[in-house]
Amino acid sequence: MTTPDWADVDEYIVNSVARDPEAESALRANAAAGLPAIDVSAAQGKFLHLLARSIGAKRVLEIGTLGGFSTIWLAKAVGPDGRVLTLEFERKHATVARSNLDAAGVGERVEIRVGAALESLDAVAQERPEPFDLVFIDADKVNNTEYVRWALRLTRPGSVIIVDNVVRHGKVLERDSDDAAVRASRELLEFLSTEKRLDATVLQTVGAKGWDGFVYAVVAQE
Ligand code: SAH
Ligand code: DHB
Ligand code: MG
Repeated sequence: MTTPDWADVDEYIVNSVARDPEAESALRANAAAGLPAIDVSAAQGKFLHLLARSIGAKRVLEIGTLGGFSTIWLAKAVGPDGRVLTLEFERKHATVARSNLDAAGVGERVEIRVGAALESLDAVAQERPEPFDLVFIDADKVNNTEYVRWALRLTRPGSVIIVDNVVRHGKVLERDSDDAAVRASRELLEFLSTEKRLDATVLQTVGAKGWDGFVYAVVAQE
């Protein structure tokens, strides 16, 4: 037997504890529609689901919907009386996501807004919504710091903010990277190191999606 790698272990983990028929159907529909397979892994989707349940999240904001794979995990966590607002730039992605969410039986608790997230966030803020309990940021990486600033405006003390893809196969160590996403990760960590309203760490992850990691931040008590 050859040495198993991260992806093999991830498959074992998912087959043991992170199966979800509706989420798996969504991945098949995404592939059939030609969407890129850049969703969170199933193990990470289950993690987001458990996190949302652990904090009793009833209002979740997601930035970056794609085909709604992570959205399904989050929507299942908030329950029938919970709500997920998810922001997506590409109309085609949003259309596929709408179909996947409806097929998963959680369509009624999810609103998808199509447009550049920075513009949608501005519009959302003007509606003065109830604070979100959990924000999952997983869109264009260059805007991550701006998204966290918006998340701060739209949450309450104790809310949790997760930012995907900040380790980037370790490239986050490259000070003068010409990769804009790497520079954005470093800018975000610099921001987190100075922002007193957030208490944060980064969890490195390996698995089906390779080596990456996410920011886990909690909005400070006042
Ligand atoms: N959270 C999803 C994956 C999101 S992939 C999952 O795990 O299933 C990143 C998504 O962000 C893509 O669908 C892309 O179209 C979207 N995106 C990129 N730039 C954006 C922007 N400026 N505003 C909103 N969405 C954006
Ligand atoms: C990619 C991966 C992601 O998890 C994401 O949110 C966006 C892009 C990528 O591999 O390109
Ligand atoms: Mg991601």
